[in-house]
Amino acid sequence: MRAEILELLRSRTPEPVSGEEISARLGVSRTAVWKHIQTLKNLGYEIESVPKKGYILRSAPDLLSPEEIVTHLHTDWVGHHIHYMKTTNSTNEVGKKLASEGCADGMTVVAEEQTSGKGRLARGWFSPYGRGVWVSVVLRPPFLPEEAPKCTLMAAVAVVKAINKYKGVNAHIKWPNDVLLNGKKMVGILTEMSAEFGKINYIVIGTGINTNVPRSMVPDELKPLAISVADVAKEPIQRVQILADYLKNLEELYTVACKEGFNPVFDEWRKYSNTIGQAVKVIAPDKTYFGTAVDIDENGLLIVKRDDGITEKVIAGDVSIRPASARGKLYS
Ligand code: BTN
Repeated sequence: MRAEILELLRSRTPEPVSGEEISARLGVSRTAVWKHIQTLKNLGYEIESVPKKGYILRSAPDLLSPEEIVTHLHTDWVGHHIHYMKTTNSTNEVGKKLASEGCADGMTVVAEEQTSGKGRLARGWFSPYGRGVWVSVVLRPPFLPEEAPKCTLMAAVAVVKAINKYKGVNAHIKWPNDVLLNGKKMVGILTEMSAEFGKINYIVIGTGINTNVPRSMVPDELKPLAISVADVAKEPIQRVQILADYLKNLEELYTVACKEGFNPVFDEWRKYSNTIGQAVKVIAPDKTYFGTAVDIDENGLLIVKRDDGITEKVIAGDVSIRPASARGKLYS
């Protein structure tokens, strides 16, 4: 109900909407409308009451609350169930718990702050209050567990499309799913899965978008590695808009993947990748080598033509793009 009131107020701003109209449209009493308006004010919405005219929405709080998300979201099902917290240890942990308890497909877990945000390879993820989008989406895909890693590439495409809408932002995907700008990380994605033999129970796609983490707040050891959308955007960042766009893109790509397979998703991935065609250093679990990234295969694995002529497919490991100055040196 609060979301519907907000939507109505938002559609008329800066004109007022009378309490009478709200109550007629939403089929509730004037007193109920008044109570909802008070609750919205307590949540941080600035709503002016103009005598004999009604209510004007002056400003909304910078929160990723369900009320805010719902009024920006244009999906068919992803994000239609939202679990919102001011603070939590990790949205992925909460997502996994909800998924194991049987939550809806597309359940979206959002927090303003994570106290133990999880990164890949057992690293952490710096997630200060209100400075980024810390979100996990629960999906129950119909495909086989082997295909789950492809969802990570899919999420990278969804998020890069959402952030590249901002002026001055031209982020790229480094295989498999790091979203970088000027070589620094703007987004991290951690996909976790519960599966049985031949069947995925659920996957949780956790995405951390650094939207406006001021440089002064970034821990020293991360300063050379991390960047925020706001550091480069030449316009104000609205976290909720980025989140809503990301969820919309994710739903679209996932729908295509479920119907047609991942090839169209990978075609999109190639458009945003900065890895293909680059000289790379690959640190695989069992060996390190240098070469040129040629493409990704139908499973999303990176195909690398090694400098010694052998072709490898990278399943796991760390791939770094070599600076032009280091190229051609076999074992630099
Ligand atoms: C990486 O190491 O690049 C992956 C970082 C993933 C961070 C996100 S933030 C939302 C979700 N919850 C977590 O604890 N981690 C992911």
